[in-house]
Amino acid sequence: MMRHFLNLSDAGADAIAAMLDDALTRKQARAGWPKGQVDADAPLAGRVLAMIFEKNSTRTRVSFDMAIRQLGGQSIVMEAGQMQLGRGETVADTARVLSGYVDAIMIRTDDHAKVEEMARYASVPVINGLTDASHPCQIMADLLTIIESGKSLPGLKVAWLGDGNNVLASIVEAAGLMHFDVVAACPQGFQPDDEAITRASGRARVVADPREAVEGADIVVTDTWISMGQAQAETKLAAMMPYQVDASLMAQAKPDAKFLHCLPAHRGEEVTPEVIDGTQSLIWAEAENRLHAQKAILRWCFGQIG
Ligand code: CP
Ligand code: NVA
Repeated sequence: MMRHFLNLSDAGADAIAAMLDDALTRKQARAGWPKGQVDADAPLAGRVLAMIFEKNSTRTRVSFDMAIRQLGGQSIVMEAGQMQLGRGETVADTARVLSGYVDAIMIRTDDHAKVEEMARYASVPVINGLTDASHPCQIMADLLTIIESGKSLPGLKVAWLGDGNNVLASIVEAAGLMHFDVVAACPQGFQPDDEAITRASGRARVVADPREAVEGADIVVTDTWISMGQAQAETKLAAMMPYQVDASLMAQAKPDAKFLHCLPAHRGEEVTPEVIDGTQSLIWAEAENRLHAQKAILRWCFGQIG
């Protein structure tokens, strides 16, 4: 069995719940072990994951590399610019060639259509490691972090502040699948696509007022104002400033609200140091959970979960 993980809807609600469950169990089972020690059952022994990066990465690169190692497999990490892909070899040809060598492919690219093309031509599972349109692996880690904090997903209120970007698109998709609500406060001109909001089946809405979004929220989330590949525009930074997550905005959320950020962060821009480094912030658990969530995603891709 092989499945592609391009968006959360490829898995669906039941499989997402099963993956989160598995991630938590597996994480707890190896608590305190050396990071390089393989899980007792080595469920992906003999499998090789190839990773292709068209953009920078710290978390996705290292967490996927360690995920496949802990599952008993191995990885090959490639920069697209050093591959023939970077000189114009097609995604389709790359997909067919790599399918002869490796057991799964993860790709981070600027253009979501390239991930879709990779999946169309690969005969092994393809995983979206971030595109311009979505970041489903990140949101699996976020959901895991929320559950670990003691909150359950159905009925949760999530507030998003700032840019209507790829990370928000996956949060919104998760809201529709897992039955929680998202209120995104984004400035004019930087709102998410209507199509992304529609995918939430009525569980997401966009507002202009940051306080309206955060009012009574269980979870407050933001991300960089300038995503990879976007120009650093002073006009955009100025438009975003009222959406900075600071202590007074956090005070509008529930008293036990938690703060999430996929990282890398820009302290003093999208979030103040007192919030991101404060007691409500779960960013380090969230970053670590990329590893645990992706082990479950890899196992799902091979038909071992769900
Ligand atoms: N959050 C995230 O995807 O981080 P990297 O860009 O470091 O992979
Ligand atoms: N929105 C950010 C996420 C980085 C993990 C970007 O696309 O650069």
